[in-house]
Amino acid sequence: MEEKIIHESREGRVAIWTISRPKALNALNSAFFKEFNELLDGLESHQEVAALVITGEGKAFVAGADIAEMQGMGREEALAFSRGGQKSFARLAALPIPVIAAVNGYALGGGCELALACDIRMASNQAIFGMPEARLGLIPGYGGTQRLPRLVGAGNALYMLLSGKNIEAGEALRMGLVQAVYENEEILEQSLKLATGISKLGPNALSTIKELVYKGSEMGLAEAVTLENKRFPELFESDGPEGIQGFLEKRKPQWKS
Ligand code: CAA
Repeated sequence: MEEKIIHESREGRVAIWTISRPKALNALNSAFFKEFNELLDGLESHQEVAALVITGEGKAFVAGADIAEMQGMGREEALAFSRGGQKSFARLAALPIPVIAAVNGYALGGGCELALACDIRMASNQAIFGMPEARLGLIPGYGGTQRLPRLVGAGNALYMLLSGKNIEAGEALRMGLVQAVYENEEILEQSLKLATGISKLGPNALSTIKELVYKGSEMGLAEAVTLENKRFPELFESDGPEGIQGFLEKRKPQWKS
């Protein structure tokens, strides 16, 4: 039997997915995407997981799409290859629960794109980010040309995409590509601590925040704040009353879902 590439574990209500294909620096191949989509199916149909942390084993988070799998591809195969990755990462971004990338090492090309499809990026001080596709005569195909500039601005994105240069964690922090940097030994622990804290917050509030931030960034301001105004009262029929009551009674809220 083939060994699994993604190892799933749980800590309380937090799921941890560790990408483990160290001989290829965790490069994303078709077997990875099959497992990734099966795990997403599981998350979508079970509600006990409140947050997800994705990390890599060894010295890489993910060193990109599997370059060997791209060898000899024609136009139609390349179309399907890119579409498959895009769809998988769009499913990840659309999960109703927060997803944290615990970037422990190389996050290049498709690996950087995977981190970009997560909601929050935490980096080890040994993390290296880059979009080296142009060096291969290619472009990012898993959403990177679009998510990167939306996150760090066109200037920083074009710097990374056009130069193909790798950047270190400190530079990624300055750009806003990552939200925090920790010592390598602490990266998973700190990411789990953040995820555990998040997992105790109102689940409907969290999914609504994600929806508003992602959908709103595609809209004009007036339309986006109208959507916020539509969603705000909905929380008064889900998490809001218990959250408010918990605060006033000086106790932890007991969410229904
Ligand atoms: N795909 C397939 N195999 C890869 C890989 C990748 N993206 N990255 C690394 N590997 C393999 C290497 O071929 C090597 O295998 P062998 O031992 O069998 O030769 C093994 O992993 C270890 O890699 P290195 O010996 O190169 O390790 P290093 O420490 O010297 O260098 C590195 C590390 C700088 C990350 C280097 O491996 C590298 O540049 N990797 C490629 C990075 C890249 O170009 N990523 C973008 C891919 S294209 C893409 O992602 C397109 C898209 O958006 C859809």
